[in-house]
Amino acid sequence: MKHWITALLIATQLSAIPAYSIEVEETKVPSANSHGMKKKVDELMSQMTFEEKIGQMNLLSIGFDVTGPVVSQDVDQKIKKGLVGGVFNTFTPAAVRKLQEIAVNQSRLKIPLLFGYDVIHGHRTIFPINLGLSCSWDPELIERTAQAAAKEASADGLNWVYSPMVDIARDPRWGRVSEGSGEDPHLGSEIARATVRGYQGKNHDNADTVLACVKHYALYGAAEAGRDYNTVDMSPVRMFNEYLPPYKAAVDAGVATVMTSFNEINGVPATANKWLVTDVLRKDWGFKGMIATDYTAVNEMVAHGVGDEAKVTELAINAGIDMDMVGELFIKHGAVLVKSGKVSEAQIDAACRRVLEAKYKLGLFHDPYRFISEERRKKELMSADKLQLSKEAAIKSMVLLKNAKQVLPLSTQQKVAFIGPLVKDQRNLIGAWSGAGDWKQATSIWQALDTKFGAGKFLYSKGCNILDDDRMIELLNLNGAMLQRDEKSPQDLIKEAVATAQQADVVVAVLGEPFIFSGEAASRSMIGLPDNQLDLLKALKATGKPVVLVLMNGRPLTLPWENENLDAILETWFGGTKAGDAIVDTLFGDATPSGKLSITFPVNVGQIPIYYNAKNTGRPFVPREKFHTQYLDVSNQPLYPFGYGLSYTTFEYDEPKLSQSTMRSAETITVSTRVKNTGKRAGVETVQFYIRDLVGSITRPVKELKHFQKVELKPGEEKVVEYKLTVDDLKFYNSDLKYAAEPGDFEVFCGTDSSNLKKAKFTLM
Ligand code: BGC
Repeated sequence: MKHWITALLIATQLSAIPAYSIEVEETKVPSANSHGMKKKVDELMSQMTFEEKIGQMNLLSIGFDVTGPVVSQDVDQKIKKGLVGGVFNTFTPAAVRKLQEIAVNQSRLKIPLLFGYDVIHGHRTIFPINLGLSCSWDPELIERTAQAAAKEASADGLNWVYSPMVDIARDPRWGRVSEGSGEDPHLGSEIARATVRGYQGKNHDNADTVLACVKHYALYGAAEAGRDYNTVDMSPVRMFNEYLPPYKAAVDAGVATVMTSFNEINGVPATANKWLVTDVLRKDWGFKGMIATDYTAVNEMVAHGVGDEAKVTELAINAGIDMDMVGELFIKHGAVLVKSGKVSEAQIDAACRRVLEAKYKLGLFHDPYRFISEERRKKELMSADKLQLSKEAAIKSMVLLKNAKQVLPLSTQQKVAFIGPLVKDQRNLIGAWSGAGDWKQATSIWQALDTKFGAGKFLYSKGCNILDDDRMIELLNLNGAMLQRDEKSPQDLIKEAVATAQQADVVVAVLGEPFIFSGEAASRSMIGLPDNQLDLLKALKATGKPVVLVLMNGRPLTLPWENENLDAILETWFGGTKAGDAIVDTLFGDATPSGKLSITFPVNVGQIPIYYNAKNTGRPFVPREKFHTQYLDVSNQPLYPFGYGLSYTTFEYDEPKLSQSTMRSAETITVSTRVKNTGKRAGVETVQFYIRDLVGSITRPVKELKHFQKVELKPGEEKVVEYKLTVDDLKFYNSDLKYAAEPGDFEVFCGTDSSNLKKAKFTLM
């Protein structure tokens, strides 16, 4: 249940809020590291009752969205009694002020509240879904999107965002692959760091930064069979080498808060997992910030089967959790647990302290209203620079999957037919988890065509519905999908589309998933285009016209027929507020695609999980031989590999050159390659460097991404791209979970994608 009870809740809870225009002066907040923080928190805690302390550990949802099956009740009464540390789903200066005033004027100790929200890929200005953004392989761009989101969110009264989501995912059936950065720990870690930097800035001196929250700790993306909330069972070496790095990267980048995940890990739910939360996160990684649960995750441990309400509360608090999201079990059972000695008072004190410290760092004790400013709101929300950034991000996130005979870019001299239910669509453009974004402000492809070329220059036909399956439409509409079937029959829609296509020189079919096919609780067992869309494509293909498929979707899709039969395929994900403009610029060559896949596209569902950094096995594939690792009915190769993405131009790589062929651990090897633009247009290439550790004390992946660099090249231009490889790039966690490099032979690869690489060798002495 995400975001669709909006209207009802606004009406019931926030309608009476007056429009505030009171301005709070920006003043310098005392440094969080100062002795001032300890003094302030000590002073407050010395006055707090036990209930008030545990009240700080209570995180409730109130306001514009409902993001789980339970709804918090009587929130203002609880705030008055000092029983709430923070709320989420409330924003706008007026609504935030209303609740903050209750905390500051009516509660005994006047402790201000935290205001959290799921700002996932933008707040009001929506950027491409995170999976799309990660295909930019551009941490600097992603940092700017997070910074823009922080500016909007903070101007809207928020001080805490539930992002970045850094769950590594190798199973595209899982609906939440859309929220993350794909399958690779190195790319995922770079993006995690960049996002934290973007949200939090250097400090909170100006009220235009927010606390970030890395989630979902941990391994949520490894849910069995890609079914949301499902079991995770994983070896420690896989965890540490392949799944945990992005969370750690966020911690190393100074993320202020962490959210635990819904799933169990090797039999213990993450939210009760003391080893995960206290030993790894706090002790090994040195995390000093605040840890919150996911939505009612404590309560859900009853269903997991690890105890009754009191027991799961004990487990969560003792694991080291500081805030209980929505479930309210901490305030319900905390006192009895302390009285019986099952939870120590020191544990409660430590948690309360961490919540208060987060507030102090934000400057809320100095000025509880510092994030509340109508003036800043007017200036920041959907400002021209953010809209421009939304377009830039959408362009850089697109991945050109196929472009036979250079059918793209299109020319304005051609007669182009735009066909498909997503040509004029706005709702789906901003994707799932689009926060406070307003789909009505998103630019559709059709609107963008009008703006760029003037109205009436192109042919159009709807061609099909997004979905034709009534049962599915009904189910999805219950949750706000806004799907409607056309009055015309599917056959008539296709007939019209074919007639339109026949008048054109080239057909652009805009198809994909409804936004609601991705995000939370949106797993799919089949991940192709819906059958009715495929029927349309087949009919268009039969006209003999060149067909370009523009895709909008939230996960890798299985596209074997499309790849085989269509002329070009442009993956645009759900591109955000300015997706339409970005797509039109790209189709007509004013922008050149440069995105690379951050996740593998399988040929079919049976190949899942499929990922590039796999192990060799003892019987690696040999064509036409039995007794080797393979399927009888499908190749081991994916449809499109990790790192793949074409441009309107072509690039040529030299073999990598190494500055030396042996290396001692204190040394660096410079790996270089010459990259040349061999096509007729300027373009940006992401040069990728991988390594392989040929022999290890545990088996090592056949390839691991270690570095990437973007290079912009004019036609005919060439540049040498260098990467300084150090011993850190060769380290991994061994079976004792010791992080070290092992001497021996290595391969280093460079190239345009994970399956198209040139290699050299070196030895670590
Ligand atoms: C999701 C989180 C989200 C939280 C609060 C949960 O259902 O798993 O990602 O931050 O709700 O809305």
